[in-house]
Amino acid sequence: MLEDAPAISVRDVSKRYGSVAALCSVSFDVQQGRIAGFLGPNGAGKTTMLRILSGALSHDAGSVAVFGEPVSEGHLELRRTIGYMPESAALYGEMRVTEYLRFRAELKGVERSQRKAFIDEAMADCGITDVASRVIAQLSKGYRQRVSLADALVAKPKLLLLDEPTAGLDPNQIRDVRNLLLRLKKAYTVFLSTHILSEVETVADDVVIVHKGRVVAQGKKDLLTRRESGKTFVLALRAEAGPVSKLFRTTVGLADFDVETDGPFVRVQATWDDHVQMGPATERLVAACVASGFGVRDLRMIDARLEDVFAELTRESEEQP
Ligand SMILES: Nc1ncnc2c1ncn2[C@@H]1O[C@H](COP(=O)(O)OP(=O)(O)O)[C@@H](O)[C@H]1O
Ligand SMILES: [Mg+2]
Repeated sequence: MLEDAPAISVRDVSKRYGSVAALCSVSFDVQQGRIAGFLGPNGAGKTTMLRILSGALSHDAGSVAVFGEPVSEGHLELRRTIGYMPESAALYGEMRVTEYLRFRAELKGVERSQRKAFIDEAMADCGITDVASRVIAQLSKGYRQRVSLADALVAKPKLLLLDEPTAGLDPNQIRDVRNLLLRLKKAYTVFLSTHILSEVETVADDVVIVHKGRVVAQGKKDLLTRRESGKTFVLALRAEAGPVSKLFRTTVGLADFDVETDGPFVRVQATWDDHVQMGPATERLVAACVASGFGVRDLRMIDARLEDVFAELTRESEEQP
């Protein structure tokens, strides 16, 4: 295991199920110590990617490494490094919670002398100490989910792969799981899949957005929001399109813009380059418009949230059937 390698490194990974292309040349990294959200609508390929990362499923092409170690199907040495919480946990319902966790800890190679301490800690972390001797099948969905999370934690892995960990939970349980993730962050790298944007907004540092088996965006969570937010504006001017376009073209720092005529007005939507100091630049632009005799009617900043970016990126293309 390499100290400074990314926790997850995925390069050009593809996977088909017969004629269904579940993943198409997917590449991304997750750095150590981060919580990364793997965000995408249902059917995007999230579960497929997590199963590949956990060693439960083989991939057709590309490479997958965890802490610099290549992952392949059935890779046993990584069992203790990776804690995987599958989408629908196959818990042994007839077992009691501690019994089940003991069985799992043993399977994952936790030494006998450490087992009790590890199990107690995982149960405490997940808030299930009070149901330790209960039969799993008799627990509520929320508690079963926590048992599944305790299972992922029990061998003290370095990387947690969580597949939609809050699916099917009520709002209070969702809040509990989110708080738990924020606490776990101190000790683990977390890669969590979700189709719920607010989940990423509340717990993640980074985000990888997938749609139809392809990565459509990735980066720091706030970078992704900021890419659009505040940097894009709409300026309505009483003027003609030609001269306005000319002025905008010669204005330093404007990445791209659209000009649209609306009766006696033109509406310009433009985005400042990332390095531009928006306030002063906008002031200069407005002053230049006024100096050119364009009446300024309205100026609005467009504050796109991650939600808008997500909707935009995952929107069905109109050309497709
Ligand atoms: N075992 C399978 N056999 C055939 N198709 C599958 C199988 N598992 C998933 N798929 C298909 O692969 C695509 C990605 O599925 P999945 O990884 O489960 O997405 P997500 O977890 O994002 O909802 C979907 O089109 C799904 O129908
Ligand atoms: Mg899934």
